[in-house]
Formats: sequence, structure tokens, C-alpha cells
Amino acid sequence: MQTLAFSPANSDFDTVVERAAEVLKVGKLVVVPTETVYGLAADATNGEAVAEIFETKQRPQFNPLIAHVSGIEMAKTIGVFNEPSQLLAEQFWPGPLTLIVEKAEGSAIHDLVSAGLDTIAIRCPDAGARDLIEAFGLPLAAPSANRSGHVSPSCAQHVVSEFDGRDLLILDGGPCEVGIESTIARADENSITILRSGSIDADQLAACTGLPVDYAQQGNSITAPGMMASHYAPRCKVILNCESANDESVMLAFGEHQSYAKHNLSPTGDLREAASNLYGMLRELDTMGKTNICVAPIPFEGLGIAINDRLSRAAAPRGLNHDLKKADI
Ligand code: TXA
Ligand code: MG
Repeated sequence: MQTLAFSPANSDFDTVVERAAEVLKVGKLVVVPTETVYGLAADATNGEAVAEIFETKQRPQFNPLIAHVSGIEMAKTIGVFNEPSQLLAEQFWPGPLTLIVEKAEGSAIHDLVSAGLDTIAIRCPDAGARDLIEAFGLPLAAPSANRSGHVSPSCAQHVVSEFDGRDLLILDGGPCEVGIESTIARADENSITILRSGSIDADQLAACTGLPVDYAQQGNSITAPGMMASHYAPRCKVILNCESANDESVMLAFGEHQSYAKHNLSPTGDLREAASNLYGMLRELDTMGKTNICVAPIPFEGLGIAINDRLSRAAAPRGLNHDLKKADI
């Protein structure tokens, strides 16, 4: 395992990008920071490299990956963009929005990436990740860089603890700005469906396209694989909407009225701060030897919708959905 500092502000940035691109070219994996969470990236056109992602994460192969591109031009070589999808890409890329579009005919993306679906998930990430894709010249398949079913990593240290002992190049770009995964949306001609909520919300998608936006129903088929119930699961049982915690539990607070708690997603009640602290604090509390993590109520507005979504998956009963439990999103 090797970790290299990775920031466009550093003088050796171009050298690190070149080095990472070489590693990708020989079919190996590179851990790349994005504005949302860290990704475990491979050349999306190389089946063996993509298979190694599934193997490393122990991720079921029916669960497709996002192809990360350097911009709309590269995206159009692998997907077909209808008018609303085009508008959304123009407005929100680079950024935390993944679009589900029809696969382009003759696309070089390996079938394993989209797990045999006729659609493909595409996203253009921000900052350093985008520079790397541009230098590499091909889309990168990248799920979150955690073992399947675990909490996503929002800093390089989380990745090290997930894959300790594996031969991996980790690019360390510091803590991720957003801290939770991208919004996943599918735009049809007349409506938009959110498959996974994230920091770009329904109002923004509606304002950009003038179309109505709704949320996909949870969990019935592969057309909405991002909707599986038990994910982001810490070892502890997660209990939602708590005002306090007993001896067997640790409290994950939010807002100023719970200022006694050591772990507070945001003492000032700032949902952006809460999102960026979410996975790091869940990980930390999970190692404290308690049975439960009791989480304070988080308001259902703006980013709070995505935070509640991730928390309810972390709290989902794991015995009830054995197959789903193994799946990662
Ligand atoms: O922020 C993010 O999106 C991060 C960073 C690394 O980009 N990536 C990420 O990837 O969260 P992953 O693999 O952990 O989650 C991708 C989700 C999965 O739930 C998968 O089922 C869904 O996207 N997905 C992929 N292709 C799809 C498709 N064609 N149709 C519907 N859902 C799809
Ligand atoms: Mg994931």
C-alpha cells in the first residue's frame, strides 16, 4: 500500500497524476479522492481491472459501477444524452451528480461495469480526479473505496483501514468536501427520478430542467440498485431519532441542544458540516466497544434528506434482507 499526497495546488501534482495514470494503464487499481467520497478506480474498458474492483471490495457483480469521465465529451462516447440529461450535465458537472443514461452503441466500457444493464451510470468528478481522468484519457470505473456493505470513506485514512495489506496506490487529497455519495438521477423526456439522494437535491434538478422530480421506490429490482436497504452498515446497531443514549450506547448528536455529546455531526446544526462528518463519526463510534449508536433526529430538508437516507440504511434490520445485505452501494 502506498499513499501519495494529491492536490492540484502541490508542485508535484502533475508527476503524481502521471504516476497514477501509469498504474491504471497496466490494469491496477488506484484510490482517488473526489468531492463526495474516495473511489476505488480502474480503467473502465479493462475487464480484468474492473473485476479486481469487485474482488477487492467483495462486491456482488450484479451491482453496477459508475463510469467517471472528464467531461460531457467523454461521457457522450459511452452514453446517450437526451435533452434533460444534457442540461443536467452542463449545469452540475463537474460535481456530485451521477446520471443514468442509455449505453452508447459500440461503447468501449467493459460490460462488467454496468453489470449487463442497457443503461450506464456516468459522473464527472471535481478537481484532482478529473485531471487524472483527463490525463488517463479513458473513463474510470469507481465505486466507493470501502469493503462491500461498509461505510464509505471520506478521507484517505478510512481507505487504509478498509484495505490494509492490499497492494494499492492511494492518492490522498485530504477530507472530501461533501462527504456523502453523489446524487443519482435518471432523466426521461418528461420526468426525473432520483435513485439515490445526495447533495444536489430534487429542487435543483427540477429548476435546471423544468421537469417534475420524484424518488424511485426502494429495492425491488436492478433498475434501482442504489435503493437496497441494508448498507453503510457499521458493526453497532444504529438507532435513529434519539434524544439520549444509555450505558450500552454512544450518542451521535446534531445541533446545539445536545452539546453534551462528544460526537456531534454539527453543533451549529449545519447540514453540510453534518454530511461531511457522517461517515467519519460512524466509523469512530463503531470502534468504541458499545452495542448501539444512537443518532439524534436530523431535519428532513436539503442535505438532511440524503443524510437521513444513509442513516436509515445503516439502521436497516440486516437479517431481513440477506441478499441485499451483501450488496453495496
Ligand atoms: O459519489 C459517488 O457516487 C462515489 C464516488 C466514488 O464517485 N461512488 C459511489 O459508487 O458511490 P458506488 O458504486 O458505491 O455506488 C454507485 C451506485 C450503486 O448503488 C449502483 O447500484 C448504482 O450506482 N448504479 C450504477 N449503475 C447503475 C445503473 N445503470 N442503473 C441504476 N443504478 C446504477
Ligand atoms: Mg458504495
